Amino acid sequence: MKKEVRVFAPASVSNVACGFDIMGFAIEKPGDEVVLRLAEKPGVRITKITGDQGKLPLDPEVNTAGAPVIALREYASFKGGIEIEIHKKMALGSGLGSSAASAVAAAFAADRLLGLELSKSQLLDFAIIGEKIASGAVHADNVAPSLYGGFILIRGYNPPDIVEIPVPEGLFCTVIHPHTEINTRESRKLLPALVTLEDAKTQWGNTAGLIAGLMKPDFGLIARSLQDVIIEPARKSTIPCYEKIKQASLEAGALGCNISGSGPSIFALSDSLSTARLVGEKMRLALDGNIGSEVYVSAINRRGPYVIEEK
Ligand code: HSE
Repeated sequence: MKKEVRVFAPASVSNVACGFDIMGFAIEKPGDEVVLRLAEKPGVRITKITGDQGKLPLDPEVNTAGAPVIALREYASFKGGIEIEIHKKMALGSGLGSSAASAVAAAFAADRLLGLELSKSQLLDFAIIGEKIASGAVHADNVAPSLYGGFILIRGYNPPDIVEIPVPEGLFCTVIHPHTEINTRESRKLLPALVTLEDAKTQWGNTAGLIAGLMKPDFGLIARSLQDVIIEPARKSTIPCYEKIKQASLEAGALGCNISGSGPSIFALSDSLSTARLVGEKMRLALDGNIGSEVYVSAINRRGPYVIEEK
């Protein structure tokens, strides 16, 4: 067992246009940091949260990082105390899997602290407990990429059937985060309960096409498949300048562009780092200075969470 562990877990882009709730990939930055420390007093306590503007609960039972630690402490039959510090390095409600990154960092750190050596598939169950608190629904398309790294397909949920999809060399991601907040729970209420057979057919063609495009690899097939006829139409009006930003990214050479998770972040995939950078500049210009933003350009993160420091 360790006395203190500091872990980083990456942000992620979920849905990836056509794969609502079943696909996502991790990016290099941003990401959250969680510190866990053994304490004399039994129980789990959150002692500090930074970067959340005071919005996150200090009660560990209803905190996305706290709940997985409580569950892992019980799983390990550990009777001592654990203190948690959460350092948010990305905005809440950004569409970059902020709650998932904290849940993954906490579960990964608790595993190290308690010396459990659980597999990623076991840790996923604990991280999902945290994600469920944030969005009110069990979806693992941020948690799984953040935990495993790389591009992840969740083939099914009962139990989670995680498939790691190979990512071709030369694939880069650009993300723009316009400074507004979208609550995933609310954003899910905008979605249609039923879809037409025609739309379903289009969507599963694109989903299969995207996976095949990544595996072959075939950038043209990836580009043709990055389409969403079901979720994007219902959500795009919640994101400032969405159509303009998407258009600008495609004109700059992106393979495709769509909403990251439930937004407001927007992602684009490109076949080179230089194109991904240009796409970022054009996306920012298209936002028109109406609103502040951050742009992140990175390769797909293949590593997932890691220990920054432990004692
Ligand atoms: N798949 C989820 C959604 C991701 O689109 O609601 C939320 O980040």
